[in-house]
Amino acid sequence: MEKSYTIAVIPGDGTGPEVVDEGVKVLSTAAQSHGFNLDFVRHPLGGEHYMKTGEILPDHVLAELRKTDAIFLGAIGHPEVKPGILEKGLLLKMRFELDQYINLRPVKLYEGVSTPLKDKGPEDIDFVVVRENSEGLYAGAGGTLKRNTPDEVAVQESINTRKGVERCIRFAFDYCRSRNKKKKITLCGKTNVLTYAFDLWERAFYEVAREYPDIETDYAHVDATCMWMVKNPEWFDVIVTDNMFGDIITDLGAMIQGGMGIAAGGNINPEGVSMFEPIGGSAPRYAGKQIINPLAAISSAQLLLEDLGEEKAAADIEAAIKKVLKDDIKDVSAGRMGYTTAQVGDMVAEYVKTGISGA
Ligand code: IPM
Ligand code: MN
Repeated sequence: MEKSYTIAVIPGDGTGPEVVDEGVKVLSTAAQSHGFNLDFVRHPLGGEHYMKTGEILPDHVLAELRKTDAIFLGAIGHPEVKPGILEKGLLLKMRFELDQYINLRPVKLYEGVSTPLKDKGPEDIDFVVVRENSEGLYAGAGGTLKRNTPDEVAVQESINTRKGVERCIRFAFDYCRSRNKKKKITLCGKTNVLTYAFDLWERAFYEVAREYPDIETDYAHVDATCMWMVKNPEWFDVIVTDNMFGDIITDLGAMIQGGMGIAAGGNINPEGVSMFEPIGGSAPRYAGKQIINPLAAISSAQLLLEDLGEEKAAADIEAAIKKVLKDDIKDVSAGRMGYTTAQVGDMVAEYVKTGISGA
């Protein structure tokens, strides 16, 4: 009997549904050519659903999600819903409840895609950010006092546990080893100012490093990391960092790899259910126009298959993405692709079907 996986699909808001359709199209094609089955179960969560029903992520849906093999998400964010409600109630809630403690964000410039970095090409921009995804400033610790008075106090604390930090660092080392490129891992922190949090990170990093003598270690402050990402991106192989710094540097990463049109990510629980999503937002002004680039979602689908252990199918998707970028699409930004969202999905699916990677 063929292998079968259940994939929860959350199209979400804005352009989410359009890009998710293309991701699902490509996933189905890859599954067919590689002899496994994918059962897609759609969940109508997001801004529209919230305004209609008041529901953000009900317990019964969360219980469903726990039983799936992976989650595929489009985008969250609605112009009529106050910022923070959907982000906290849906996206962050999934990350925390499902303990997706890794946010894996590859920064890879494909041939045919232009980068704003002068004199840099695909051989220079190929690294992965391992962002801690369950703690730090995102843990929600803190509070306010005397709100809306001249004496107002706001405290927002960064939570760093030895266990949380160490499991993230360990994942990054393992990932660096299996990636087998430069075998170099850079801890991105701020040890000169955040002397409690990054003291913990630094000690955990060098202790874990002893178990990986084949991997070179490096350290850069977060501000310097931004500088090097622009000036010498070829220095990086794997960067490991906390939740907030990881959030910031991966937007920079997305820009140097060509933009939100192709930046993908995975929220990973190595022992549980992981969720895959394009890094970009819901881009409401592009919604329904079929001008958004679905490649970020399709790359997320590739990461999803890697997570399921369907490496060959994932490699086929990457090869197809590379071909589309090299031979077909002239510009990756929305509205400038020269094709509709669905046409791009069709081309990728066709290349997957004809197995151009030979995987
Ligand atoms: C991201 C996003 C989220 C984050 C927001 C939408 C809460 O920016 O996935 O990077 O800050 O993690
Ligand atoms: Mn972000």
